[in-house]
Amino acid sequence: MNQEDYWDQAALTKEFTTPFRRDVFARHVTKKARILDVGCGYGRVANELYQSGFEQIQGIDYSQQMIEKGHGLYPHLWLKKGSSPFEFADHSFDAVILVAVLTCIVEDTAQQSLIQDIVRVLKPGGVLYINDFLLNHDVRNIQRYDQFKDVHHTYGVFELDEGAVLRHHSTEYLEGLLSDFDVLEFETCVYATMNRHTSNGFCFMGQLEKDC
Ligand SMILES: C[S@@+](CC[C@H](N)C(=O)[O-])C[C@H]1O[C@@H](n2cnc3c(N)ncnc32)[C@H](O)[C@@H]1O
Repeated sequence: MNQEDYWDQAALTKEFTTPFRRDVFARHVTKKARILDVGCGYGRVANELYQSGFEQIQGIDYSQQMIEKGHGLYPHLWLKKGSSPFEFADHSFDAVILVAVLTCIVEDTAQQSLIQDIVRVLKPGGVLYINDFLLNHDVRNIQRYDQFKDVHHTYGVFELDEGAVLRHHSTEYLEGLLSDFDVLEFETCVYATMNRHTSNGFCFMGQLEKDC
C-alpha cells in the first residue's frame, strides 16, 4: 500500500499518543524560536507548543487528510501539506521536531536525506528534537522483524495488516544517522503505540555546531 494513502486513511481512525517531552524541548528552545514540526499529523504536538506559549510554529505533513483534520481541530495553527525536500530557505529554523516520523520512513537513504534537509534548514546552533521507536526483544516483535527483513533489507522493519510499513531502530544506527548533532539529551523509555501495544522508544535532543 502506498504509505501516503495509508496515513490519509489513518487520519480518520488513529489518535497519536507518543508523549511529547515539552520539559526536554523547553530546556533548549525559547518561546520566540522559529519551529518546524515535520510529519506533524493533525497538529497534536504543534498545538501543545502553541498552548504553552511558543509563538512561531509551522507544521508540515505529506498527508492531505492529516492537514485537513488539523485545520478543523486547530484553526489557529500554520499546517500545510509538505515533505522533504522542504520549500524553506537554508538556516531558517531554530528547532525542528520529528515525533514518530522516522518510524514511518523505513529506508536508510530516505531517513538520511530527510536529516540532511533538516540540517540545511536549521540555523547554526539549531536543535533537532526526536521521539521514536527502538528495537524490541519480545517474541512478537522478533518474529515480525525476521519475517520482513529480507523484504525490506533492514532488521526492524515490519508491515501491519492494515497497510502501514514501520521501522524500529537500533541505537547504533541512530548514532550514525544523527552524527551531525551534538547530543544534548538522550533518554530511553517505553511508549504506547497507536495500536495500543507497547514499544521501546527514545527521546533525543541534538544541536548543530554554532559556527557551521
Ligand atoms: C505516527 S504519525 C505522528 C504524527 C505527529 N507527529 C504526532 O506525533 O502526533 C506520523 C506522521 O508522519 C507523516 N509522515 C510520514 N512520512 C512522512 C514524510 N516522508 N514526510 C512528511 N510526513 C510524513 C504521516 O503522514 C503521519 O501523519
